[in-house]
Amino acid sequence: MKKFLIVANWKLNGNITMISSFFEYLKLYFSNYVKKNTIVICPPNVYLERVRQIISNINNIFLGSQNVDLNLKGAFTGETSILMLKDIGVKYIIIGHSERRLFHYETNDLIAKKFNLIKELNLIPILCIGETAEEKKNGQTKKVIEKQLDSIFKNSGQLAFRNTVIAYEPIWAIGTGLSAHPKDVQLIHIFIKEYIKKHDPINIKDIIVQYGGSINQYNSKDFLKQPDIDGLLIGNASLDAKQFFNIINISENMIFS
Ligand code: PGA
Repeated sequence: MKKFLIVANWKLNGNITMISSFFEYLKLYFSNYVKKNTIVICPPNVYLERVRQIISNINNIFLGSQNVDLNLKGAFTGETSILMLKDIGVKYIIIGHSERRLFHYETNDLIAKKFNLIKELNLIPILCIGETAEEKKNGQTKKVIEKQLDSIFKNSGQLAFRNTVIAYEPIWAIGTGLSAHPKDVQLIHIFIKEYIKKHDPINIKDIIVQYGGSINQYNSKDFLKQPDIDGLLIGNASLDAKQFFNIINISENMIFS
């Protein structure tokens, strides 16, 4: 049975009132409907503990962070460490999101170091990769992805992608309402998996690649139908409990022969 990983990336959104009503709605349905897939909620760090308390007795739902610092402790004002996230029950950490690459100047090298440390400390990195509109136009998508993956191999070795998650997020599709075509995404996901397989004799079924970029309740099924799309990373649509739950429900009801 195919299982999906559905991740909510709330970005810089949400407040106490929103969190209460979001989970009031979700809890009504969650236990009855979510049986096979894994759901991860990534609120802003300041709300992680509140969300942890709410989800602590619900199965199949986990806590994720949207970013982390490379330092584990010390004089780094304003930062949060992997150890702190681990301490409060975080299991997944998104790294390399294009918004962090763009607005916070994060490089492939920095992201690769974070990836390595997250794995060393037994949490699961969700590594975001993907090309800009310009790169797509110039036919550079695969080159860009290879470079992003190579920096991870360089830092973490040939088995780097075991027990990790990759989120393919074409930058032009994020928050634009302009999602990529599911069949094009399928081809890129195969490319990613085969590229990893060149370095590591891993079973291709054990490489998890999600898609992210303007996913909503209407298009999610077309993506999940593709054999190599193993889950979704959802921004905007994950802020609306009803819509997010509809997507979860669609993923639970997908039947594969
Ligand atoms: P979006 O964001 O669903 O709002 O396009 C996805 C993401 O940035 O992870």
